[in-house]
Amino acid sequence: MAGELDTPTRGRTARGRLRALDAYLCQFEAALLTRTDDAWDRAVFVDVGFGEHPWTTLESATAFRALNPALSVVGVELEPERATAAARAHADARTHFREGGFALPLSPDEPARLVRAMNLLRQGPPERIPEAHLAMSRHVLPGGLLVEGSSDTDGAVLVAHLLRRTAEAEAPAREGLLFHTDFSRGFAPLLLRDWLPRDLRRRVRPGEPMHAFFQAWEAAWKAARAEGHTAPPDAFAESVVRLARMTPGVCADAWLLAHGFLRWCPPGGTPT
Ligand SMILES: C[S@@+](CC[C@H](N)C(=O)[O-])C[C@H]1O[C@@H](n2cnc3c(N)ncnc32)[C@H](O)[C@@H]1O
Repeated sequence: MAGELDTPTRGRTARGRLRALDAYLCQFEAALLTRTDDAWDRAVFVDVGFGEHPWTTLESATAFRALNPALSVVGVELEPERATAAARAHADARTHFREGGFALPLSPDEPARLVRAMNLLRQGPPERIPEAHLAMSRHVLPGGLLVEGSSDTDGAVLVAHLLRRTAEAEAPAREGLLFHTDFSRGFAPLLLRDWLPRDLRRRVRPGEPMHAFFQAWEAAWKAARAEGHTAPPDAFAESVVRLARMTPGVCADAWLLAHGFLRWCPPGGTPT
């Protein structure tokens, strides 16, 4: 089942780790989660690399089915025993657990509307990440989304790529980056830098767009604090409002700010 790009990793996960991401997706991708026209009627949500327990898959299933009760969910695991144990204990008519890798074990009549791959692209050369993105988005319908990124162990800090499948290209468009913190670790922009997706982690160097982004956010945060916005949620929200004035593609939507999210969709796409 495993392909050349698939690399075994530890299976550590935690209940609630990806709950904030579920909430974001319900808020901003409700249309994608609920579409039933044409092939969307059969389109599944795929959670790639759910880990030693399928908690995050099951939590997402509950969150997304509040919007779309008929939604089929497929949890995928490279490690056969994890897939088998999850299937034995938690599978039902709409919830499936399968062994597989980035190529995704979906049948031809199971297109994907949303694929999530959190906390698994940690090894292997960063240059090969576009291949993994391409492989995971192959089953995604045009307009559908691949979310790939990293978080700390309990999901208090999370950064993810938003990669959109389009009708025009095989590779998904690098639509944007989603940053989240629940403030339990306080807040400073550099807290998020440490959880960038793997292909961007080493790109925060002078001269690189990711460096310019963090420099601008840091300056906005310091200015916000200097004006009295010192509590972490307040400093965060004010820093994003200020950053949005000088950085194209930074979204200062009220829900995002209130829930500790920054979404940045640079006009030319997320830097490579
Ligand atoms: C650290 S756990 C993450 C679990 C969960 N996604 C989370 O965020 O809490 C990573 C899991 O991904 C699995 N994995 C690693 N590479 C994979 C691949 N290419 N395809 C499917 N699963 C993979 C590993 O076996 C491991 O169980």
